[in-house]
Amino acid sequence: MTVRVGVLGATGAVGQRLIQLIDPHPDFELAAVTASESSAGKSYREAAKWRIDAPIPDHIAEMEVVATDADEVPDDVDLIFSSLPSSVGAEVEPEFCEAGYVVSSNSSNGRMDEDVPLVIPEVNADHLDVLEVQRDERGWDGALLKNPNCSTITMVPPLKALDEAYTLTDVTVSTLQAVSGAGYSGVTSMEIIDNAIPHIGGEEQKMESESRKLLGSFDGAEVHLHDMGVAASCNRIATIDGHLENVWADTADDVTAEDAAETMAELPSIDLPSSPETLIEVFEEPERPQPRLDRSLGNGMTVSAGGFRETDDGVQFNCLSHNTMRGAAGASVLNGELLAEHGYI
Ligand SMILES: NC(=O)c1ccc[n+]([C@@H]2O[C@H](COP(=O)([O-])OP(=O)(O)OC[C@H]3O[C@@H](n4cnc5c(N)ncnc54)[C@H](OP(=O)(O)O)[C@@H]3O)[C@@H](O)[C@H]2O)c1
Repeated sequence: MTVRVGVLGATGAVGQRLIQLIDPHPDFELAAVTASESSAGKSYREAAKWRIDAPIPDHIAEMEVVATDADEVPDDVDLIFSSLPSSVGAEVEPEFCEAGYVVSSNSSNGRMDEDVPLVIPEVNADHLDVLEVQRDERGWDGALLKNPNCSTITMVPPLKALDEAYTLTDVTVSTLQAVSGAGYSGVTSMEIIDNAIPHIGGEEQKMESESRKLLGSFDGAEVHLHDMGVAASCNRIATIDGHLENVWADTADDVTAEDAAETMAELPSIDLPSSPETLIEVFEEPERPQPRLDRSLGNGMTVSAGGFRETDDGVQFNCLSHNTMRGAAGASVLNGELLAEHGYI
């Protein structure tokens, strides 16, 4: 089956990664690209300042960018990927769903809404059925599925492994996040070169709330948040791609550094085209993972972990993922594949 897809916010940092993943995808065919009014009417080549280190596929470069409006997207598009600023997503995503489109969104608006599933397929695919509740409540023919924030996605698979085996009680995390996470116009070179910025607006709150939803349980009617405590501190550093995180995980049951590493290495991946063969690559070398060396493992979809040390109440470790692949575009594509597998498209 070929699924015709559209990309909202196609010219941005995440939008370009989406194009890069959709073009060679075995099941998806790109049928529409949207952006702001200032890009509408231009060819994709003119509108997008292409920054991916591979050329824009010619047939996509010639596509016309249309305004981000459900009336501008062909009716025969089956699946929409959204990578809009959250204020724009909050306004237009429900309009697309109401018009009957199924939307896999990367924007932060609505992630914590009770009837909006927040999903990492290898972690909580069962939460997808929140869509039944959503359709009942909102009367949509379409549907809205979210992937989490890029910094949350990095730590949650390792935390899932620990929680299943040892039950998490408290998590503390400090991040070293790449500049691409702020979008193309997010951080200027004058701000970030020779510098680190110990504040990313709203990021701590996203990590604290989204991780509890992802590791929560769905009882068929609602998602019950995990009752662990989560405290996050988020920092921007001068790497291009790849978020590195230092995590302290307290557990109810005793865990050794070796056990924690083994549990993470054994967390299974799933059988979807974009899911990597190895979900968590565990390093023995204490200085790994590192952004430049390890962010592209598994086509940017593998999370890596290392630096395990026992603490009084659990274990400390470092983890890393590619923020615009596993943390954004790849996450949305994977969710699109999950929607197709579960018959929502
Ligand atoms: N970058 C990451 O690593 C990352 C990770 C996780 C989540 N996210 C989230 O993903 C979303 C996109 O992030 P990004 O980094 O790709 O941002 P970005 O580079 O600034 O791109 C924003 C996109 O949205 C379009 N847009 C802006 N204002 C619009 C409007 N009023 N109406 C319609 N389209 C509009 C832009 O089109 P024009 O080119 O025409 O302006 C562009 O295509 C955000 O919600 C962000 O929080 C990003």
